[in-house]
Amino acid sequence: MSRQQIAAGNWKMNTTPKAGVRLASAIAKRKRPEDVLVIMASPFTHLAAVSEAIKGAPNVKLAAQNCHQSESGAYTGEISVDMLKSVGVSYVILGHSERRQYFKESNELLAAKVNTVLTKKLKPIFCCGEELKVREAKRHVRYVKKQLKEGLFHLSAKEIVKVVIAYEPIWAIGTGVTASPEQAQEMHAEIRQLLAKQYNQKVADSISILYGGSVKPANAKVLFGQADVDGGLVGGASLKATDFVQIIKSF
Ligand code: PGA
Repeated sequence: MSRQQIAAGNWKMNTTPKAGVRLASAIAKRKRPEDVLVIMASPFTHLAAVSEAIKGAPNVKLAAQNCHQSESGAYTGEISVDMLKSVGVSYVILGHSERRQYFKESNELLAAKVNTVLTKKLKPIFCCGEELKVREAKRHVRYVKKQLKEGLFHLSAKEIVKVVIAYEPIWAIGTGVTASPEQAQEMHAEIRQLLAKQYNQKVADSISILYGGSVKPANAKVLFGQADVDGGLVGGASLKATDFVQIIKSF
């Protein structure tokens, strides 16, 4: 079963619009494997300009890092899916651990955001992953299962195949510590089994599951070489065009 391979860059709260456009253009015009889908998640302020910069580049898509669950209304400081769509966004990262941790986003809230994104025909990149103490207590599989059950499993089979899942152990994000290829594979296989149980094998086999947490040019190849790892959600290393392109070429 061939699944879509994806290299997604999460710029977080970094770059100016000018630097973001420069970064996106450099990545978009570099020679890279045609079958790898490249996604760039820029800050809101750069989305329109980055969208222009990547126009026409094959297999390059734009993502937002968050959205509001309501269509519109009195939500000062928030952004709607329609607004994102109007500037060329096709994916929305939801439930990143930084959103869960610093902005107290719950699985219940994320389920609502997932619904809004899908209703508007955009695709969620749904993040899950455990803290170090959860892994040390060997409760990581159970923990991630709960996040998926509460955040995604209300969807129908037709809906869930539009979702990209990103497994990002919190202890590996921005720390320089990467999960070992075996640790990543173990969790990805668990997630796929869970999808097969909840839906069916065909659904499970069609969903791309990305690994995130200190993915770098030096470790991307071995991580992406795991049977159930279909790519990466990359933070720090997505901010340097040469590093990110090297990661894109690691499949
Ligand atoms: P990192 O971030 O690659 O800098 O660890 C990954 C992420 O938060 O998506």
